[in-house]
Amino acid sequence: MTIVAELTSTINKLATKGKGILAADESTPTITKRFQAVGIESSEETRRTYREILMTTPGCNQYVAGVILFEETLNQKTNQGVPFPETLKNLGILPGIKVDKGLVHLANTTDEQITQGLDGLPERLAEYKSKGACFAKWRAVYAISNNTPSKLAIKTNAEVLARYAAICQEQGIVPIVEPEILIDGDHTITHCEEVSEPVLHAVFNALYRHKVKLEYIVLKPSMIINGKACSQKASVNEVAEATVRVLRRTVPGAVPTINFLSGGQTPEQSTAHLNAMNQLGYLPWNLSFSYARALQDYCMKTWAGQAKNISAAQAAFYKRAKLNSLAAMGKYTELMEKEEVSHA
Ligand code: 13P
Repeated sequence: MTIVAELTSTINKLATKGKGILAADESTPTITKRFQAVGIESSEETRRTYREILMTTPGCNQYVAGVILFEETLNQKTNQGVPFPETLKNLGILPGIKVDKGLVHLANTTDEQITQGLDGLPERLAEYKSKGACFAKWRAVYAISNNTPSKLAIKTNAEVLARYAAICQEQGIVPIVEPEILIDGDHTITHCEEVSEPVLHAVFNALYRHKVKLEYIVLKPSMIINGKACSQKASVNEVAEATVRVLRRTVPGAVPTINFLSGGQTPEQSTAHLNAMNQLGYLPWNLSFSYARALQDYCMKTWAGQAKNISAAQAAFYKRAKLNSLAAMGKYTELMEKEEVSHA
């Protein structure tokens, strides 16, 4: 297959209406923290078991087009000895891979961060691709405060995101471009909107300069929302309208799909916001999800590391995947939260 044919085939699957992406690519320290919060011991085997629970949930392939894996999981196998990438492909789900190497201090800023991992990226991508990965993820992070994000952080993160995306496309890998504006803090939704617009402009400006073909990327942004500690809580419609307003101003229609991160919103909020956006009338892009916590929280808590809970844990994941799939089509209602949804 040519590079363009590979990119086309991957993006067409990822942009399928009513399907989203499961982010199951928590680094070992991150998943360990999440496991600890619900009393699960973190070992290579418990992480493997948990990821198998997610990926083998019966019927989840109706709602999930791709799963982002951490390197450890890409190399692991199911109980039956089938490598995870192959398991996903057999279910019609595309395997993806987190390729950034985390955050470090951005010199000459006050506590701002830059994402590292460009060195050796082409070689790593070639290896991941040989193991089945079709798409990749790179996360840049911006914190909101009175003086951040700075112009330096906005420009440098955009540049690095664009370099990563260009390297991916050269290898036939669809890049997920993830600029995450953190929900931490007491900022208002208006402040979040004021920050998000220049961040996204800078990202698309850099993607253009680096000749990234927008037709073959997934944008994974945060929603425009008030900070967690802000006393003025924005309504579901305010979040939906502000988010779509900023995206319309900054994201060209050539981008096929925008898949949000959940960023610390509750599972129900993440679903309600996505649904409200998809009810706003014509949008030039597919608007869907690429959640980690909002898809996994109930599943992880229900499993609690116990084999006897696996079926209930899968039912919890199935329900969130299904409701978010409906939200990606604007067909979700709050009443559905109360309904029993069985995975079969
Ligand atoms: P959350 O949905 O938990 O924010 O995670 C998405 C993600 O992949 C962060 O990089």
